Amino acid sequence: MKTVIITGASKGIGKASAETFRRAGDRVINISRTASSLTGVENCLIDLSEEKAEAAVLQFAEKEIEPGVIILVHNAARLSSDSVREIDLDRFRSDLAINVIAPQLLNKALLPKMTTGSAIIYIGSTLATKAVPGTYSYVVTKHALIGMMRATCQDLVGTGIHTACICPGFTDTEMLRSGVADDQAVLDSLKKASIFGRLIKPQEIADTIYFAANNPVINGAVIHANLGQVEH
Ligand SMILES: NC(=O)c1ccc[n+]([C@@H]2O[C@H](COP(=O)([O-])OP(=O)(O)OC[C@H]3O[C@@H](n4cnc5c(N)ncnc54)[C@H](OP(=O)(O)O)[C@@H]3O)[C@@H](O)[C@H]2O)c1
Repeated sequence: MKTVIITGASKGIGKASAETFRRAGDRVINISRTASSLTGVENCLIDLSEEKAEAAVLQFAEKEIEPGVIILVHNAARLSSDSVREIDLDRFRSDLAINVIAPQLLNKALLPKMTTGSAIIYIGSTLATKAVPGTYSYVVTKHALIGMMRATCQDLVGTGIHTACICPGFTDTEMLRSGVADDQAVLDSLKKASIFGRLIKPQEIADTIYFAANNPVINGAVIHANLGQVEH
């Protein structure tokens, strides 16, 4: 049985992913501030923005995880509205802690336990390879994840552990809806930005994560999962 550790599996894409792996018979553990409501999913409640997250993650790895095939999905993230001119530096540090430092805390704690067949899946964004105005911290941290994934790939030569970065487009989750204050007109304009004229379902991204995690041929890859985006 594989052990699947997903950050931010209490909601959205992480929750759909937890359900997908659980259905496949894997042991699934959610790391977030609030517990997953899914039956059979274990919870490790950690606020990844806090300094004490490092000790909590190390303790979790030591006490709860045996060496074996481990799928680590770096999914939790925060989306801030800010810009290069107007940015709260404390919030920027906190976004870095959740979106960039936390994945590394988990890599450090869990890599010694990961055997051949394990995988590290980073969740990027369309904004991991391009920028739009007003999402400075998010764009910076998502670009960083692609660098982390590529460096992870190169540093794990010969281990039998593979890695990939899945970059979702507009997916119908709390992050997307709260990011636009649930404004239907904005949501409709986001749908029009897709070649398919709709938002992505969290399950579609979960299926992509599952596929990447279970196929080592996808190693060092950036996978855009966005239904195609209309370019102007
Ligand atoms: N939705 C989209 O359109 C979209 C597009 C591109 C990329 N993505 C990426 O996909 C991933 C999942 O996004 P989503 O849309 O599913 O978001 P979501 O519905 O807002 O879920 C975010 C998850 O992250 C957890 N989280 C947030 N802050 C945390 C903290 N300080 N400590 C621990 N856990 C924390 C949340 O759990 P708690 O609140 O319980 O802590 C929640 O489970 C993110 O990496 C996001 O950047 C999403």
